[in-house]
Parts: sequence; C-alpha cells; structure tokens
Amino acid sequence: MLLPGATIGVLGGGQLGRMLAMEARRMGYRVRAVDPDPDACAAPFAELVQARLDDVDAALELAAHCDVLTIETEHVPAAVLAQIETVREVHPNSALLGTVQDRLRQRQFLARHGLPQTGWAAVDDLAGLEAALVTVGRPAVLKTRTEGYDGKGQLRIGVGDDPAAAWAALGRAPAVLEAWVAFEREISVVLARGHGGELAVYPVAENEHRHHVLHITRAPARITPAVAHRARELGVAVAEALGHVGVMAVEMFLLANGELLVNEIAPRTHNSGHYTLGGCATSQFEQHLRAICGLPLGDVTLPKPALMLNLLGDLWTDGEPPLAPILAHPGARLHLYGKAPRPGRKVGHVLVLTDDLDAAQAWADGVVG
Ligand SMILES: Nc1ncnc2c1ncn2[C@@H]1O[C@H](COP(=O)(O)OP(=O)(O)O)[C@@H](O)[C@H]1O
Ligand SMILES: [Mg+2]
Repeated sequence: MLLPGATIGVLGGGQLGRMLAMEARRMGYRVRAVDPDPDACAAPFAELVQARLDDVDAALELAAHCDVLTIETEHVPAAVLAQIETVREVHPNSALLGTVQDRLRQRQFLARHGLPQTGWAAVDDLAGLEAALVTVGRPAVLKTRTEGYDGKGQLRIGVGDDPAAAWAALGRAPAVLEAWVAFEREISVVLARGHGGELAVYPVAENEHRHHVLHITRAPARITPAVAHRARELGVAVAEALGHVGVMAVEMFLLANGELLVNEIAPRTHNSGHYTLGGCATSQFEQHLRAICGLPLGDVTLPKPALMLNLLGDLWTDGEPPLAPILAHPGARLHLYGKAPRPGRKVGHVLVLTDDLDAAQAWADGVVG
C-alpha cells in the first residue's frame, strides 16, 4: 500500500492529469508529470518534467523518482511503458495500453471476448476501404487506428460519399471502418478495479455529443434498471478481461431494442466521469489513486443527480465566455483547466447537482447556446 507521502508519476499533463494531481495533493501525495508543454495544465500542481511522451529517457527519469506510475492519455507509446515497468509498477501496463490505444486491436479484443460491438473491418488502403464498405455497409465511420480523440481522426461515409475522398481526407493512415450505429442514447460506465480485483462502479452516465465531442453528461442515465445492470456487467467484463488496475471508462451505444454495443474503452479517468468530482464522496481521480496505490476503493454513490457541461474554447473565441451566467447559478461548480482557449478544445466544465436534471439541461443549453 502506498500511503500519502509517496510520489505518483503521471505521463501526460492535460486536464485529467491536472485533476488527478489536485486530488493527489489534497490527499498528501506528491506528483510528478511529464508533458512537452511547459504550460501544461497539470504544471501548477505537479513537478513538471518537460519532455515528449515518447521520450524513454524522460520516462525512466520520472520512474526513478516515483513510487508508482500512471497515464492520463492513451497516446503514450506502449513501448515507453514497457521500458518503465521494468523498474516501477505502472497502471495501466504496456500490454493493456497496446491493446486499447489501437482501435483495431481494441475491436479484436472485444471480438475475442464475445463482447457486443458494431460491425467493423480493418482498412489499410483504398481498395481495402471499398471492400470494407461492402461488408460493413453504409453509413459507416472511418477512424484512424491510433491517435484519435474528440472525434479527430474520424469521418462519416454516407450513402453518396466518395470513398477515395474520405481515404485522402483521413491521411491514408491505417484505419478501421465501423458500421454507423443509429443509437437511442450514448452511455458510459466509469469504474475502478483494484489490485485484488475488487470493483467500484459509478452510476451509469448518459452522454450527449456535439460534433463527436462530449457536450453534456447526465448521471444517472435515463435507462431502465435492466439496461443499467447490463451496462455495469459489460463494463466489469471489459475491465476483468483486460486485467485493468485503476479507473477506466467503457463507452456504449444503447439501441432502441435495449441492446448495448461497446463503442470505446478508455483505460484512464474519463470526461464522462467528471461528475464524480463534486458529485460523489470519492471522485474518479481519487479512486484511480486509491486503485493504483493499493488502497481500499472509496464510495461511489451519487447522493444527488448530476449534470456536467463541457466548456469548449469556442465560447472564448466567439465572444465573451458565459462565465457571468455560470457564476450566477448558485449551484454551478465551475472548473477551468488553465488552457489557452482554441475552437473545439475542452477548456473547462461545469457541474450542477440537482433533482431536476431537465431544468439543469435547459439552463446549460441556454448558457452555451
Ligand atoms: N459507429 C458509430 N456510430 C454512430 N456514432 C458514432 C460511431 N462512432 C463514433 N460515433 C460518434 O462519435 C463520437 C466519438 O467517437 P469515438 O469512437 O468515441 O472516438 P473519440 O471519443 O476517441 O473521439 C461517439 O461518442 C459517437 O457520438
Ligand atoms: Mg469516445
């Protein structure tokens, strides 16, 4: 068990690293983080090692000064984790990250374990894309195997769209073609798994995306208890099949017939779990620390329903950001990550805890338009 006073090493210094570091500091841990940006948002709360995430020497140097290591983004080369796990414990480990950070391997992993997912096919060239469109059907989504996030590196191919144009637009990178899912809702399960396999599963969240970027999360999700049960079962099955230690999120599509399909696995804290920071006794960030440090897992109950609204850089670049109306709401908890606002970039979020989520959603829509 690593008690407060120990040093946590984090690869990546984005907002997830920042909130992890803030929670770690609150609990009395020390934090070191690697990020190429000297102004990384975790920098005020961690000793920052300025280096690229593929810099093995920097990662080894970090490992030498830390008691346990973790990631805050899956865009850390698995080979870097493989190096540092020879000297320190790292969660997730390199094998797990190698499976999850590549969309094709993730799809193959789900298939191997009989976990439900949409139709898919690997695509390596234009001829392969044309063949895949026949087997997968249209509409479909073409996604790069690696480095995608927030809808980046993906393109929808509709009935009349030209595959050659899509292939060129995606940069001809190795990709996966997925059948488009006409889902009823998107939901996610955020959970933690400890060293001994113990589990703590947060209430299922419901996610609304705009332009493939998370816009609003409501928790608990508006789903039947049976669907919630199945979602939690699927989340746990993924975590156990991966042997994960730490927090992870499993994004799912809910179909009109009640069926669930796994969309994406994130072996880390997740945007759709931000509501736990302020909403639950144990935030997903504290929970991740508890899991990787071998502490008992904390309470995941959500005493009051939660709405989390993402704030994108567009709100700053298109005019006055709506800080006054947010601060005028006595129950709204504002989080700003200290990031330079750019269009499409997540720069903060707002949490509202309320029994009337519909009213909160109407308020949120009014705030961001
Ligand atoms: N096959 C699909 N069918 C329908 N919508 C999709 C599909 N794939 C992605 N999307 C939409 O795009 C969003 C982002 O895609 P996702 O695969 O989760 O990548 P990332 O979150 O890494 O950008 C999803 O949450 C969903 O709203
Ligand atoms: Mg996603």
